[in-house]
Amino acid sequence: MTQYNALNALCINNTDLNTLMKNKLFSLLIAAIILLSCDNSNKIRSFEPGEIWPDNNGIHINAHGGGILFHKGKYYWFGEHKTEGNTGNVANVGVHCYSSKDLYNWQDEGIALAVMPEGSGSPIEKGCILERPKVIYNKKNNNYVMWFHLEPKGGGYTGALSGVAVSDNITGPYAFLRAARPNAGHWPLNASEQMKSGAIPSEGKYYGGGSLPAHPDSLNLVARDFGGGQMARDMTLFVDDDQKAYHIYSSEDNSTLHIALLNDDYTDHTGIYTRQFLGRFMEAPAMFKKDSKYYLMMSGCTGWAPNQARSAVADDILGEWTELGDPCIGDNDKKTFHSQSTFILPVQGRKNQYIYMGDRWTPKNAIDGRYIWLPLEFEGDKFFIRQHNEWSLK
Ligand code: GAL
Repeated sequence: MTQYNALNALCINNTDLNTLMKNKLFSLLIAAIILLSCDNSNKIRSFEPGEIWPDNNGIHINAHGGGILFHKGKYYWFGEHKTEGNTGNVANVGVHCYSSKDLYNWQDEGIALAVMPEGSGSPIEKGCILERPKVIYNKKNNNYVMWFHLEPKGGGYTGALSGVAVSDNITGPYAFLRAARPNAGHWPLNASEQMKSGAIPSEGKYYGGGSLPAHPDSLNLVARDFGGGQMARDMTLFVDDDQKAYHIYSSEDNSTLHIALLNDDYTDHTGIYTRQFLGRFMEAPAMFKKDSKYYLMMSGCTGWAPNQARSAVADDILGEWTELGDPCIGDNDKKTFHSQSTFILPVQGRKNQYIYMGDRWTPKNAIDGRYIWLPLEFEGDKFFIRQHNEWSLK
């Protein structure tokens, strides 16, 4: 029944003026309730990890391997736009952006960084691999800087480059600047003298990504890549309270995580970086800070298949880092609740409310990938994550 008919139905056959007035008031009240409930009927009020998550157009959010930037009262979610089928993990479209005020309801803001046409020869040509985009705000320049893992088209995962793009508008369009391997010609701050002196020979060989024949130090992979820059695949960004920004990426054939300081514009590396978790094959890094301590959540290295999560804590972002183990509680399969970390989001205005953001990849139909968002719990210097089928912010 339409609202108009409902009102009529309530008012009809009433001749007594008083009753009529009362009924009219009553019907106005009913109409207001109907209108209010219509207005809010599409509102999402809870997180349902693993379910379809519709945007303002009713379309499942398409922002995988993503991260969130909070700016001027709104959250902006940037992620990989996937397409249908088992070829949908390559970049056919670009980086998708959504905005939200409440973290449940997301508005489609379109493609923030578009891939270039096929045949253009651009490093971000359609069909390249463009993963784990993150955007940070640069206060000094009042602009937005996006970094991502880039594999130019046709090279599989051998490129291991980092791409950077900038925009004066948070939602884009972002202008692609360049893609390169970070920190060419620079030794890490914690490189040993042996490594630097060449006392440990480097065979110059590249390995598959999931394992090495020996410890990365005895292969001296840093020396192998000294001239051309260090390999950089899975990545995240972190801006500290002093506005220094860091790029955190899986390097040395994924065996070792690098934490690298960016320049003041956030558009290049500075040569200041450290190696962490040597030979641990940490992927999918997500960093946050709480009570002056830095935390990392990471995964192991098994491609699109989920594996057991890892976590770590440090007093200094460049290290020493101490591993804390798997933060997941009740995760019987030990597969991070069938997801892989991508970001940990501090919720604005809520003390100690942080959200784990993970991807449940679906490589057979990439666009169908799901989002596993779960609340962090804290105990001492450790954080934990528990499974919830549905939950809301406190
Ligand atoms: C994962 C990585 C993803 C993607 C995938 C490809 O380990 O986290 O971002 O690169 O491998 O197999």
